[in-house]
Amino acid sequence: MEQQTIEVGLGERSYPITIGAGIFRQIGEMLKTAGIAQRYGIISDDRVAALYGDLLSATLEKSRVRAELFTFPPGEESKCLQTVEELAGRLAVAGFDRASALIALGGGVVGDITGFLASVYMRGIPFVQIPTTLLAQVDSSVGGKTGVDLPQGKNLIGTFYQPRAVYIDTDVLQTLPKDEFLGGMAEVIKYGASMDADFFHWLRQQHDAIVALDPAVIVPMIRRCCEMKAAVVEQDEQESGLRRILNFGHTIGHAVEAVSGYELNHGFAVAIGMQAVAELAVRSGRASSAVAEEIGALLHLYGLPLEIPAQYDRVSLRRFMRTDKKASGGRLVFVLPVALGTVDITDQIDETALDAVLA
Ligand code: NAD
Ligand code: GLY
Repeated sequence: MEQQTIEVGLGERSYPITIGAGIFRQIGEMLKTAGIAQRYGIISDDRVAALYGDLLSATLEKSRVRAELFTFPPGEESKCLQTVEELAGRLAVAGFDRASALIALGGGVVGDITGFLASVYMRGIPFVQIPTTLLAQVDSSVGGKTGVDLPQGKNLIGTFYQPRAVYIDTDVLQTLPKDEFLGGMAEVIKYGASMDADFFHWLRQQHDAIVALDPAVIVPMIRRCCEMKAAVVEQDEQESGLRRILNFGHTIGHAVEAVSGYELNHGFAVAIGMQAVAELAVRSGRASSAVAEEIGALLHLYGLPLEIPAQYDRVSLRRFMRTDKKASGGRLVFVLPVALGTVDITDQIDETALDAVLA
């Protein structure tokens, strides 16, 4: 299948996103043509490296692109400063210098770590993204948010640092565990519900082909998400306003995720968060009940949860949301759906309505 390219337009920091089924074997040639660096450090987790490390090394070797692989254990626990320090040390010992670049081969954890490392190693070297989860393909590999977690909270250390290119091969989704795919679908639905009603309806019509990973629908689906994310990032790279739209479902979703002790899949928590803000919009008189019903029905169609599990402590939930409140200058900011594909970003929330939704 032919590959498609879209551009993230950020002046001299603009970059292409190339999407296609089976493009992996062409990455060597594409990187060679891009001429980003003389030598590449491929950063991956052990699971993704076992699945795709050889394939990537083969395409790079074939195009005579010099690269070495560095891995760490999979999982959010690895997304910490210690991993960054260890990787930086290994790169230094291997002689990586300012003429080098990094390749992030993996999901959002690998992408966030690699982007952060690239932004600080030798005061900044280029990096490219090869996202291998649906979440990373539609969200985290695009837009330049990088970072790691602290024991005190997620993503508390980080930078805005754009990649030089993003290569998305949709074939890699075939090895992704089903829950990881469905969690990614929550982020896909997020784009439809908050920015594009036609796309939202298309996701319902194409359900069977999407879950069957038919490239004829998966490629345009990912492309549309990347287009929407690129358009937002182009207007508000460092989240001073509009970029908050990408947090639709995340204000309550993050608190739900935290209360679960990060056991609940991120996308599942976002699905619960989207349904909760849809209900909040209805209770606050800003949306019709049909909007909340349609969002809930699509999330349900993709096997995503809608309700905050009864056993999750509501006091802790409120506490986690208050922490969020401090981080956003004293008031909680909600992205409320007012119609399908249209949201209102507001800190004016009826506390009684919020209490009712959380209950
Ligand atoms: P992840 O990177 O941990 O990947 C999930 C699991 O899937 C891992 O075990 C990984 O080894 C495995 N995996 C990856 N690709 C695979 C494949 N093709 N086949 C089989 N297994 C595969 O998790 P994620 O959901 O991709 O990303 C979550 C992270 O992304 C979080 O840390 C979150 O904070 C971050 N994030 C960042 C942004 C951003 O804008 N930077 C946006 C959203 C989320
Ligand atoms: N995932 C939210 C953002 O990139 O802003």
